[in-house]
Amino acid sequence: MPYDRMLADLFRDEDRARNMASRLMQLAQASPAEAARERLQLAEFIHGPMDKHMSYEERFIFPQLARRGLGEELQVAEKHHASIRQYADKLQAATAEQAPQLIFETARLLLHHTNFECDYIYPELTHKEWIALMKESAEQESGPSGPFGPGSSDAASRRP
Ligand SMILES: [Fe+2]
Ligand SMILES: [Fe+2]
Repeated sequence: MPYDRMLADLFRDEDRARNMASRLMQLAQASPAEAARERLQLAEFIHGPMDKHMSYEERFIFPQLARRGLGEELQVAEKHHASIRQYADKLQAATAEQAPQLIFETARLLLHHTNFECDYIYPELTHKEWIALMKESAEQESGPSGPFGPGSSDAASRRP
């Protein structure tokens, strides 16, 4: 099992969310009508790959860090996750008029969350500990439906 690859994929998810959030925040300010057209795409990203990423963190990464006393930071991160999921629901139900503001708020939260994890959560583990965590999570995941298995929405595109 290529644990380094799993770890790289996890960080790539972070980068993908951060890049998408930055782009949409700028777009929502520069061209609200154009941003509004990305409403469903953003909702689908959150309900799909982002939800998979957040669930993986909740299931494997956060419990590990809870054992290291990161309770407060993890509570903040979990609240972010809940809000991000709520925003995706709101986006799906939004009118064209509401869309630009909602997209801006969702993207801002997504950016804030990825920065928060990057500053306060992810650096708590050393590379060696990350690899051990990947191994542990891969062993716990049953079958190929894990976050990085063939069922993963963009796993196919990551294959050479
Ligand atoms: Fe994350
Ligand atoms: Fe997260």
